[in-house]
Amino acid sequence: MQHDSRTALVTGGARGIGLEIGRQLADLGLRVLVAARKSEAAEEACCVIGPAAVPLALDVTSAWSVTEAVREARELTGGIDVLVNNAGVSLDRELRPPYVDEDILRATLDTNLTGAWRVAQAVVPGMVEAGYGRVVNVTSSYGSLALMDSGRHPAYRVSKTALNALTRMLAAELSGTGVLVNAADPGWTRSGMGGPSAPRGPREGADTPVWLATLPEGDETTGGLFADRRPLAW
Ligand SMILES: NC(=O)c1ccc[n+]([C@@H]2O[C@H](COP(=O)([O-])OP(=O)(O)OC[C@H]3O[C@@H](n4cnc5c(N)ncnc54)[C@H](OP(=O)(O)O)[C@@H]3O)[C@@H](O)[C@H]2O)c1
Repeated sequence: MQHDSRTALVTGGARGIGLEIGRQLADLGLRVLVAARKSEAAEEACCVIGPAAVPLALDVTSAWSVTEAVREARELTGGIDVLVNNAGVSLDRELRPPYVDEDILRATLDTNLTGAWRVAQAVVPGMVEAGYGRVVNVTSSYGSLALMDSGRHPAYRVSKTALNALTRMLAAELSGTGVLVNAADPGWTRSGMGGPSAPRGPREGADTPVWLATLPEGDETTGGLFADRRPLAW
């Protein structure tokens, strides 16, 4: 294992792709704040990852929870250098745009867009102050306007398109501050969301987010959307 003084916060870090992102970041020597809605789930995931992992209770849909978690994270670690906005929901698999339930639309946006935005707002000012940060928004090819060729998963798709827009805006705003902001599509991956038939495992799904989370000092990659470490059309 390499040694690294950086701390990464991974939302939705107790299972699926998030758990694997935390595991890979820990293998690279980072301290990893494993955030999950339930403390017990975060603690169990930390046992799996090892001593570099620290559990954190965090529900991205609650402003109070985000504020408390980031305050606790700073107390525990001094600061957050890397943020992986991985938490996400897909609630509308069988629905189509004319019929999508408004409550489902609202719940999807609240987690996938506003949740990521909320956590970024709590974390990014500290990164700017430190002159260093890596923000990775875990998106999906379903959010790509260039690939928007069906009405399946409408709320999910719109939430990821909006997350992509947030990525571009944050990156532009933070240009020159040392904080790099990118979006990563993990690809169709076996997980609670991806299901058992997906062609790739969590290790492959986590690869591009981890690559972007650990872009080296001096790297200027920001405001991009990537899949398999290559640019993906917006
Ligand atoms: N799997 C795929 O094929 C695929 C493809 C493209 C993109 N993605 C994206 O990859 C990311 C991870 O998905 P996954 O496949 O690993 O799905 P998953 O196994 O269903 O995991 C989703 C994670 O999000 C967390 N989460 C949901 N709502 C939350 C909230 N309000 N606050 C905090 N955490 C919350 C869950 O935490 P709990 O344990 O508390 O429920 C869980 O850790 C998502 O952003 C997803 O959109 C996945």
